[in-house]
Amino acid sequence: MNPVNLFEFEALAKDKLEKSAYDYIAGGAEDGVTLRENRQAWERIQFHPRVLVDVSKLDLKTCVLGQEISFPVILAPTALQKLSHPEGEIATARAAAAAGTIFTLSSIASCTIEEVAKVSKGPLWFQLYYSKDRQVTKDLLERAKMNNYSAICLTVDTPRLGRREQDIRNRFQLAKGVTLKNFEKYMNLKDMPAEMHGSALAAYSVTTMDPSLSWKDLDWLRSVSDLPILLKGIMTPEDALMAVGHGVDGIIVSNHGGRQLDGAPATIEVLPDIVDVVSDRTEVLVDGGIRRGTDVLKALALGAKAVLIGRPYVWGLAVDGEAGVKRVLGMLRDEFELAMTLAGATSVAEIDANLVSFKF
Ligand code: GLV
Repeated sequence: MNPVNLFEFEALAKDKLEKSAYDYIAGGAEDGVTLRENRQAWERIQFHPRVLVDVSKLDLKTCVLGQEISFPVILAPTALQKLSHPEGEIATARAAAAAGTIFTLSSIASCTIEEVAKVSKGPLWFQLYYSKDRQVTKDLLERAKMNNYSAICLTVDTPRLGRREQDIRNRFQLAKGVTLKNFEKYMNLKDMPAEMHGSALAAYSVTTMDPSLSWKDLDWLRSVSDLPILLKGIMTPEDALMAVGHGVDGIIVSNHGGRQLDGAPATIEVLPDIVDVVSDRTEVLVDGGIRRGTDVLKALALGAKAVLIGRPYVWGLAVDGEAGVKRVLGMLRDEFELAMTLAGATSVAEIDANLVSFKF
């Protein structure tokens, strides 16, 4: 089958992947309420297109934290990409660079900060999980800086990993040759209690994530790294204001793809209130359930500077490595271009709230 949309990549990836790997990537927390909402909420937004606009030439480019990207889609951090393809994050980084956008490398990647930097000709961000051992965090930050990552994306919604019952049921283990490579030099991962909580990743997260992380730690983060900081996982205007008060450079409205607190609303539903209070002082990005170019257009209309996608590019990676990620990004770009054309928007700057309404 030749996929014609992002959903069809998932179906193909499902056929190729080990069941436990597919379930880990696809799954949400507990009952999957937030996972479903993330998708369904996009469908409750409707367009009010303008016509008789000359749309023969469009400008899809935008700028995020001073970095120009070819269209407003960034690759979100996703863990352990070698579960999907032997080249893992290396293939993804190459595809992102070819598409002219940013790849965010996860702390819990299966390739190192250095390996990815070596092959990538494009902009890179580094996603940080705060370790219990501050020295480890400091070292990760230094490695990111030395290897030309241009921003730190601190995940703030994961004091502990959410309860993913499919992983517990599958006794999710890391496949042979797939490790949390960035952490290898700090700890002996083989000694970790892989069976704890029934999922190897939940066990590892006990060391790689720190539940004591709080606002005051941002000052320490600032003192050890001069890279721009984005907070990923903001879901309320109150926390968005706190983030701005702590001088962050951007926030990502995210519920971690429905993988953390089940019952949290869809990100697109909370985006407008957050944009209202902070978008004049910081850049606001959003992720969660984006599968169509029209979703990207809706997010921008509701005030996001750009969106991030996670699972869809991992499905592309599983289907056809670097080429698969390129196809996913190319497809989303084409769809976004068509959506702008049909909505009567010739540049990203022209997309505003008049274009959409909610139908709840
Ligand atoms: C890791 O961040 C995960 O969601 O599994």
